[in-house]
Amino acid sequence: MNLNGARVVLTGAGSGIGRSLALELARRGSFMVLVGRNQERLSSAASEARAAGGRALTFNFDVSQVHGHERLAGFAVENLGGVDILINNAGVSSFQEFARQDPADIDRLIRTNVTGPLLLTRAVLPLMLEQGRGRIVNVGSAFGSIAFAHWAAYSASKFALRGFSEALRRELDGSGVGVTYVAPRATRTPLNSDAVYQLSKKTGMNIDSPETVALAIVKAIETGRDEHAIGGPERFFGKLNALFPGIVNSALRGQNRAARELLQPAGRP
Ligand SMILES: NC(=O)c1ccc[n+]([C@@H]2O[C@H](COP(=O)([O-])OP(=O)(O)OC[C@H]3O[C@@H](n4cnc5c(N)ncnc54)[C@H](OP(=O)(O)O)[C@@H]3O)[C@@H](O)[C@H]2O)c1
Repeated sequence: MNLNGARVVLTGAGSGIGRSLALELARRGSFMVLVGRNQERLSSAASEARAAGGRALTFNFDVSQVHGHERLAGFAVENLGGVDILINNAGVSSFQEFARQDPADIDRLIRTNVTGPLLLTRAVLPLMLEQGRGRIVNVGSAFGSIAFAHWAAYSASKFALRGFSEALRRELDGSGVGVTYVAPRATRTPLNSDAVYQLSKKTGMNIDSPETVALAIVKAIETGRDEHAIGGPERFFGKLNALFPGIVNSALRGQNRAARELLQPAGRP
């Protein structure tokens, strides 16, 4: 897919991977609607994208809301003339013991990482089907193939997003609309708490830069990939986990212990 002049709706564009993606797409001449809740960050991402050669508008929106996704699709059509690519990138994470996780946080995480992408896809899909072409891009995670202890809600959300991507891809077969699911591994962005970075130091976790991940996502779109997991070891362990989860249970025991030590201060039951 040629990204020069492509009309893109990109969520979570104000920071991290989304911001790097906006810049990467701008360099290729895409026309974008950048979506997020923090207007200041969005506006600065849009200025950066315009300076790099793209056309970028902003749309202040919380994807976890029940309503408004159609309004966002309408804004894109009015201002870009249509939508060729929807990138569901906005997301939140939580690294904590599930038994202590605030129920409201669990609900917010699922609405942001799962319901939001589904509703936004539902809002743009009729346009794409009418055009007879388009691409839905869902930014998942390595945790969508290997569920990690202490990321239970987050892992559940990314498994759901991967399942949605697979089902929709099969449903849209032959329609001209494709579905790409990209699974980054750990990436240095504000998504991760200090505790996550402490854990990564203890366990020697691989961490990518948001620029590297953005480039991988852009390449996956350009080549029309169905699914792309970033990182050789993560790809291998994802497949191993599907076939022999018991082996992965053992391999992750050390990391689980390190996470527990970080999350359960000494002396606490
Ligand atoms: N960083 C990692 O280690 C990692 C690894 C694998 C996958 N990922 C995935 O990569 C994607 C991007 O994350 P990131 O690492 O770049 O984190 P990030 O820097 O925190 O970016 C997330 C973006 O999502 C936006 N967002 C959050 N909740 C939103 C909502 N309800 N409505 C609209 N926008 C919302 C945030 O902007 P506002 O606050 O302005 O709304 C922010 O710009 C996520 O889907 C994440 O799960 C990240």
